[in-house]
Amino acid sequence: MQFIDLQAQRRRIEPQINSAVQAVIEHGRYVMGPEVAEFERMLAEHGEVSHCISCANGTEALALPLMAWQVKPGDAIFCPAFTFVATAQVVPWLGAVPVFVDIDPLTYNMDPESLKAAIEAVKAQGKLTPRAVIAVDLFGQPADYPALREICDHHGLRLIADSAQGYGCTLEGHHPAHWADITTTSFFPAKPLGCYGDGGAVLTNDGALAERIESLRTYGKVMPSDLDGQTYRHDPKYMNLRVGMNSRLDTIQAAILIEKLQIFDDEIRRRQAVAAHYNSGLAEYVEQVPHLIRGGRSVWAQYTIEHADRDGLQEHLKDAGIPSAVYYPIPLHAQEFARHYPCAPGGLPVTQAACERVISLPMHPYLDTGTQDMIIAAVASYGAD
Ligand SMILES: Cc1ncc(COP(=O)(O)O)c(C=O)c1O
Repeated sequence: MQFIDLQAQRRRIEPQINSAVQAVIEHGRYVMGPEVAEFERMLAEHGEVSHCISCANGTEALALPLMAWQVKPGDAIFCPAFTFVATAQVVPWLGAVPVFVDIDPLTYNMDPESLKAAIEAVKAQGKLTPRAVIAVDLFGQPADYPALREICDHHGLRLIADSAQGYGCTLEGHHPAHWADITTTSFFPAKPLGCYGDGGAVLTNDGALAERIESLRTYGKVMPSDLDGQTYRHDPKYMNLRVGMNSRLDTIQAAILIEKLQIFDDEIRRRQAVAAHYNSGLAEYVEQVPHLIRGGRSVWAQYTIEHADRDGLQEHLKDAGIPSAVYYPIPLHAQEFARHYPCAPGGLPVTQAACERVISLPMHPYLDTGTQDMIIAAVASYGAD
């Protein structure tokens, strides 16, 4: 049994993927070939935004907007500690300070009340300048964007939706980009929309921000608006105005993603069915089955339950041949690199408790009900005798 069965998807679209990859090998434009722009156009349309810029991975997708906003030493960026390390680790790249915020106990996403308290505490202290919030669509479901947007507007902060796990999720029918200044995502293979290696993207409705990010993705190359009517007769990538980086999505990965995007909505629907079957089978045997925000649609990057004896259950599942995973055993504020960074007033008790109780079960669009019933029975039998 696989925790995430990527081969099942590959079997479904194998001829399409093979011919897409073959086409790139033959045309030979391996870097920034035509598939890259085509995929960016398709993803912008799918994500209902005016601009999409692909990049090398979901981590650099987070760094790019921070660079574009010229985040600097002395700035505070608010983010959860119950997330993958990348969410916070890009902040010190810019010399800024991540300030950790607690989560909602039911959705595991950023708690707006804790965010408010953290911003007010930072302002009262007067040492750091609040600049932006990075909300995470953890395990695939949208954060509470209407509440977060209101807080950001009140304090004049930018809002990033780290949708590495949640691309495709919606709240009241809207993508996070409806509220966030920018949405970032990852195409790491295990993500709901994954490629066959590393990849990432940013999505935004802010044309000026998109242009700056496109420049930063390519070593700070000059953009048409930088020239302000002047002409430059050489390749603009050899005129560099700002310190940028090299963060590109490979053409082969873009070609694969074009094919995967065609079946993505169907896969999201299948994931709903898998999650619903788990919910009905598991509810009486575990402390908590996943709880969605009202009006939210998850893309179910993970199916995560809570159990009082999580480690015992994990051993029990292992003995039964069932893979599982703990996302995340150590909250970011307790990680060595982050111990000196501030937390919201009162600390992060909900985050701490979740780290001790969560366990994720096999989840992918091709999980059949027979296999799911076996997993449910194994969970149910733990502690029954
Ligand atoms: C919430 C979150 N943010 C950022 C990332 C970073 O993405 P990548 O691995 O593509 O750099 C990941 C996944 O790995 C993630 O889960």
